[in-house]
Amino acid sequence: MQLLWLLLLSFITTVTPQSLNSSSSLVWGAFRPNLYFGLRPRIPQSLMTGLVWFGTQDYQSFTKARHACDQGDGLDGYTWTQFDAREGGIQVLKDTENNVKVTTELLMVDGGEHGGSWAARIKGEPINEGKPSRTSFVFYAGLEGMGGLELETDEDENGIDGPIVLTGSTPELDDFTIRIVDGPNNKVFSDGPFSDVFAKRIGKTHFSGFRVPQGNIWAAKEFIIKEIAHNAGKAVQDVKGSNSHPDPSFTLQLSDETLSGNNLLAFQKFFDGKFQFDVFYESRSARKNLNAVTLDEGIAAFSASFNQRFHETFPVPDSPNRDALEAFSQAITSNLLGGIGYFYGTSIIDPSFSYDWDDDSSPAESDDDNRGRKTEGPRLTEPEALLTATPSRSFFPRGFYWDEGFHLLHIGEWDNDLSLEILKNWIDLIDDDGWVAREQILGEEARSKVPAQFQAQVPSFANPPTLTMAVTAFIKRLRRHAGPTDQDLGLDFGAGGFQLPLSTSQSSNGNRYLENRDLALSFLQSIYQPLKRHYEWFRRTQRGQLKQYGRKARSRTEAYRWRGRSEKHVLTSGLDDYPRAPPHIGELHLDLLSWMGFFSRTMREIAEFIGEEEDRLNYASIEKAIIQNIDDLHWSEDSQMYCDVGVDDDDESYHVCHKGYISLFPFLLSLLPPDSPRLGSVLDLLSDPKHLWSPFGLRSLSASHPEFGTGENYWKGPIWIQMNYLALQALNETYASHVGPYQERARLIYTELRQNVIDNVFKEYERTGYVWEQYDANTGEGRRSHPFTGWTSLVTLILSQKY
Ligand SMILES: *[C@@H]1O[C@H](CO)[C@@H](O)[C@H](O)[C@H]1NC(C)=O
Ligand SMILES: *[C@@H]1O[C@H](CO)[C@@H](O)[C@H](O)[C@H]1NC(C)=O
Repeated sequence: MQLLWLLLLSFITTVTPQSLNSSSSLVWGAFRPNLYFGLRPRIPQSLMTGLVWFGTQDYQSFTKARHACDQGDGLDGYTWTQFDAREGGIQVLKDTENNVKVTTELLMVDGGEHGGSWAARIKGEPINEGKPSRTSFVFYAGLEGMGGLELETDEDENGIDGPIVLTGSTPELDDFTIRIVDGPNNKVFSDGPFSDVFAKRIGKTHFSGFRVPQGNIWAAKEFIIKEIAHNAGKAVQDVKGSNSHPDPSFTLQLSDETLSGNNLLAFQKFFDGKFQFDVFYESRSARKNLNAVTLDEGIAAFSASFNQRFHETFPVPDSPNRDALEAFSQAITSNLLGGIGYFYGTSIIDPSFSYDWDDDSSPAESDDDNRGRKTEGPRLTEPEALLTATPSRSFFPRGFYWDEGFHLLHIGEWDNDLSLEILKNWIDLIDDDGWVAREQILGEEARSKVPAQFQAQVPSFANPPTLTMAVTAFIKRLRRHAGPTDQDLGLDFGAGGFQLPLSTSQSSNGNRYLENRDLALSFLQSIYQPLKRHYEWFRRTQRGQLKQYGRKARSRTEAYRWRGRSEKHVLTSGLDDYPRAPPHIGELHLDLLSWMGFFSRTMREIAEFIGEEEDRLNYASIEKAIIQNIDDLHWSEDSQMYCDVGVDDDDESYHVCHKGYISLFPFLLSLLPPDSPRLGSVLDLLSDPKHLWSPFGLRSLSASHPEFGTGENYWKGPIWIQMNYLALQALNETYASHVGPYQERARLIYTELRQNVIDNVFKEYERTGYVWEQYDANTGEGRRSHPFTGWTSLVTLILSQKY
């Protein structure tokens, strides 16, 4: 532990203040998306802020104080309705149990050399005007690592009247001030039994200081709740012997005490009805004084420019409910952006873990990637940092490899440079072997959300390689940005064919890498080698057996198998419980071969773009070999579909055919040529209501399959939006746009599928207040975790037809 601590300290001191320029450099953000509202800078150990609240209409509500997003809290919806990582955002939280609609507004303010400043406004109003809406809000600031935090305002044992001022300093943020200021019209509850006893404390801001052990600021709520409960116990002593209780707002209060060496300071306010208070964080080097007018004007201006930019970036088709659809589209995009988090900490890896059927290190496989590691047990890695979007702020508030490729498609359309920044963070996690853990559970806070048996990551396990989507999308945008002339010629950076755009209206808005050819090229070059290592890791470690079991295929190398599957699950494939063959060292997985075809193709495009000609030829030949082997190994003439391949008791190879998403993979990833005679069968399967077609989108498993809707029913029927996005992309870009016998049919299916997906996700959002992880295969109802503004937010791209 001592060693680890020293390591952390040495890491901190290597972050130079020069790298923290202004908020347009994305130092500060709502980078704690697991909280309803919380900010931190993109610095490993630093200032962390957050918000805790509860209702004071009764004593029970206190036991359900809100802090980390939790489905059990039963909020009727919470989402950033507008959000931009560089400018700020507006979030609406509907806490019906406490009869309060809370709005959090955030404004990033540039300036100085230490990451800029920000201002936040927390306001609330009753949802039902006819009922009481009594609440208590606690805002806290805690410090990890080196530095100090002081309460400047004079303390009073009965609480503080008027604004609160804190000062602090850290090596990276330098000196800063935090002020908490009430709005003009707040009311408090001051009637009822014992109001005379507590009169001196009513209407004040209460506070407490804590000395929290290093690494525990994330658990601030526990310290705060314990302190309030403890203090309430004492307050109740004052009125002992009476039959009636004092109002909860008189007793559930912080103690109004601080300690020397506090590293967590909490401030608590009580409201009756509508309220508002502001928090201003001012970096001293910015020399800017923020006030309520900054927020009034800043938020209005932000909101107007966001509307305008959204309108241009993600146009919503005309329809009778266009306005509602656009608000919905803004909300899912904003919550994806507001769901970006910064994580820092150790993770657990277990190199020793292996299933029997994965132990295939025969000489022919030349599988030497695990050399010398098999004997180690689970261990903690060194701390790592990651800026990443999160699939679900409540249920999956951490980085997921296969989700991230989809997130970055969406983020990149809004803020190209932000998507590259996040991509670079992931690329930096690729280890010397070329491996990246599929789930990034960094630090104690992240681990607190994951059951122990799922915490360890195994360095021989893969996940669908979606990250390169972000790279090819960037290349597509570069081509678009360069203008039609360059597009016709093919964009050649080396020959200087890049044309600077005339309009730079968004140059501070995340397009620097689109506008500056040198930046773009050096970025692509900087990620190329690690990506290549990653690609080679896949080819080496996930290879399938081809020469055995009498298999015939044109390519003698291209066959693949997911490692790390169990009897019932192939978690690494991302399609956890989808039916597969019984585990066998000789089985082959169609989806993985397809992903490898996709990976080869994207590597080819990147190599072409940066002029790695030899590599390009190599990737192209592997891509071709994979396309051939998809047919040679995985097409079942009997079933007229693409299938996995298993090995039976007589050591014979056979097709394992379960109609569903797996069968569609060569089509989903556009590896099936538009003139393939097999395309007709694929389209039959997906458009047949007895199988995959539903009025709500494509089902994961055929409705006629014996396992449809059974077991845990995760990938045995339910509708997933990212898979529907892949289908729509393939239809739009490949099958409806290339001449072939099925072009017209592809066009019709595209139009209808797109409408179905949009209509259902939108309808469920209106009905429930959330977008969901998946949708019921029979009814279309939202299922499982929510809000799920990870890849379900792709509906914005579907609406605006960005593929
Ligand atoms: C910081 O800002 C200054 C002036 O605005 C600029 O010249 C410099 O390049 C910036 N540094 C970084 C790392 O962005
Ligand atoms: C595919 O999307 C583009 C916009 O990106 C759209 O113009 C086109 O009509 C779509 N194709 C079909 C078949 O609808």
